[in-house]
Amino acid sequence: MKKILITGGAGFIGSHVVRRFVNHYPDYEIYNLDALTYAGNLENVSDIENKPNYTFIKADITDASVISALFKQHSFEAVIHLAAESHVDRSITNPLAFVQTNVTGTLNLLNAFKERWANDFEGKRFYHVSTDEVYGTLGATGLFTEQTAYAPNSPYSASKAASDHFVRAYGETYKLPYVITNCSNNYGPNHFPEKLIPLFINNIINNKPLPVYGDGNYTRDWLFVVDHAAAIDLVFHEGKNHETYNVGGFNEWKNIDLVKLLCKIMDAKLGRPAGESEKLITYVKDRPGHDLRYAIDASKINKELGWKPSVTFEEGLNFTVDWFLNNQQWLKNVTSGDYMNYYTDQYINRV
Ligand code: NAD
Ligand code: TYD
Repeated sequence: MKKILITGGAGFIGSHVVRRFVNHYPDYEIYNLDALTYAGNLENVSDIENKPNYTFIKADITDASVISALFKQHSFEAVIHLAAESHVDRSITNPLAFVQTNVTGTLNLLNAFKERWANDFEGKRFYHVSTDEVYGTLGATGLFTEQTAYAPNSPYSASKAASDHFVRAYGETYKLPYVITNCSNNYGPNHFPEKLIPLFINNIINNKPLPVYGDGNYTRDWLFVVDHAAAIDLVFHEGKNHETYNVGGFNEWKNIDLVKLLCKIMDAKLGRPAGESEKLITYVKDRPGHDLRYAIDASKINKELGWKPSVTFEEGLNFTVDWFLNNQQWLKNVTSGDYMNYYTDQYINRV
């Protein structure tokens, strides 16, 4: 497989995947397709934009005719599909946008791939990047395995679950060669500052309140984005067709404990007295339908493919905080304009 279409490559995780493939595989032709929504930013891939094996295509996956024409023109042999609406809070206010991009957009890609390769699937691959949120919520114990039944609770996770089902159904019905990964919460450089960790880093820098939803006792399983990109590379090359793999770092944190750790790290880096940033913590109205706990059992990908995270959480978080402190212009660029409207809607009346 030489001609690879990566969707959503101007976003957070996609930019790390694109960078990895462009740099590690000079004989592949990497096409980065992205609609450049609020979450897409070509600054995220500026370091590789002039490489000879890289091409950017601005296109919207909800446009079936454009997607089909692109497959006819370029004959992409493989797809790594990350383009999505990805923020749970936005899905609560506008679920339809999530159906359009995450469900219809995925179908458009599946159809274009199927039309182009219907009698010639040998050596081709459709890689669908998904989330652990499709499994719903855990209680205090237990882990999500690949056998856990889907039970999505938010419009975001429902749309991702639907897209996973369509990918699987195309595998069964049309023999389309697919692989799916369901990963836990990512963090790292280029993370859009609406999500917990980058939002709180930005607010600590600017001495703004840290809006913790509910009592803060919600648990997430955090993975460094570079390790997710490495897992995607491995599964893309060595994963079995028609299989799904869970990806996670066995790294569970209650939100409030994570926020306190972040405050401690940032006080030290910003030269503030210990305990200073914690004073910014503000408990706000909870998210409706807030999933209590996510935790991934990543033993299948570890045992079958040998993947494991390369950094500890402390290393990854320190690296991430340093990246944001050293890239404050990036932060300023992505938090201007529309971002401020979103921030006002979400938070100003929430406290
Ligand atoms: P993101 O929101 O940072 O980036 C999404 C990208 O998709 C953006 O560049 C955006 O411009 C593009 N996009 C959105 N709608 C589009 C459309 N209609 N056509 C073309 N491009 C479009 O998201 P992310 O956090 O990088 O997540 C990437 C993928 O990984 C998603 O599929 C998400 O469900 C999945 N995932 C994310 C996490 C996480 O913690 N962020 C964890 C597991 C899985
Ligand atoms: P988020 O980064 O939105 O990821 P997800 O909801 O997909 O797991 O949120 C991570 C956790 O942090 C989640 O439990 C919601 C919580 N949270 C807050 O407490 N305050 C915030 O301002 C945000 C954005 C999230």
